[in-house]
Amino acid sequence: MPERLAPPDPPLSDGVIAVRPFRAEDVPAIVAACQDPETQRWVPLIPVPYTQADARRYVLMTLQAWHDGTSAEFAIVHATTDTLLGSVGLVLGPNPRRHAMGYWVSPEARGNGFAERAVRLVARWGFENLGFERLALWTLPGNVASQVVAERSGFRFEGLARNWEEDRNDRPVDAVMYAMTPEDLVDAITAEDSEADPINVARSPKPTLAPVPRHLWAAGARVAPFVDVAALTDLAPGGMRRVSLADTDLLVAWTDVGILVTDDRCPHMAAPLSIGELAGCVVACPLHEGRFDLSSGDTVQMPTTGGLDADGEYHKPWSPSGVELKPEPPTTKMEARRLTRVHRLRYYPTRIRDDRLEAQIPILPE
Ligand code: FES
Repeated sequence: MPERLAPPDPPLSDGVIAVRPFRAEDVPAIVAACQDPETQRWVPLIPVPYTQADARRYVLMTLQAWHDGTSAEFAIVHATTDTLLGSVGLVLGPNPRRHAMGYWVSPEARGNGFAERAVRLVARWGFENLGFERLALWTLPGNVASQVVAERSGFRFEGLARNWEEDRNDRPVDAVMYAMTPEDLVDAITAEDSEADPINVARSPKPTLAPVPRHLWAAGARVAPFVDVAALTDLAPGGMRRVSLADTDLLVAWTDVGILVTDDRCPHMAAPLSIGELAGCVVACPLHEGRFDLSSGDTVQMPTTGGLDADGEYHKPWSPSGVELKPEPPTTKMEARRLTRVHRLRYYPTRIRDDRLEAQIPILPE
């Protein structure tokens, strides 16, 4: 029998939103939210069409579940007006330390970060007050908005579970699996603090992780184990260094927006970026004048050889001012340069543990 939980009193709040159990007064707002086609598309359990009676049943069901200890469903509401914004809930498993989470947000409340705030409030409550060790989350592969909320809140991608769910017609469908541990939540909050205040990060010698673009994780990195990369005392603001783990050469850079780990390989022709020059967030490659923004992964200056940018657009060869443009090499070489694509940088997820920098590095041979 799952452990019975009491709703936190006073309700959890971060000053912008609060989470509390559902009430009868929420029924009209629940009906409006659950009649939204997007909500119905991604939450197969929601009846279609959705009526007042469905919403009343839903409120009663959530209150009964609190009582039975089977789930802890919260209404996400505006902290001052108590307007319903959505829902975040815990499905309580038999193991008192490992549970699952889910959420939805009303159409007019989307795009304001309310779901992230609610997920963090409830996750923190579980980790700090109730001894939770892991929260799982699954979402349909096409539900990108939900995946963005998950990753911004601190959940980490774990894989694709085939035939995990059923659609409205009882057909099996795949699900994207995420999970969050207490450490993941701390890392997400630390990364967001850096993102929120890059100026202070630039001025502070305190080691902070850079908020790198999460769609640019290196292949396989999000599910790889964390490994030790460097002591923080060996890093300095504005510095770069190469760290080689087995046959993987990493670039550890302490940029204006914090510390990040990427490959020590120019995205043009693989020269070691660690011996280039770092100015703010832009690293200048020691070959071909290429310049790359370490905070966004983008090329800010194409190499002198020209070639294709990350989006496949061709750029002509060029030369720095005062230097004569070299004649084009023989045909095959010229063709190789023309077809060389300068990809965006890829990153390895990082965390700080006991004054050491750790990163998720896939497939490290013994
Ligand atoms: S190898 Fe870096 S710009 Fe060419």
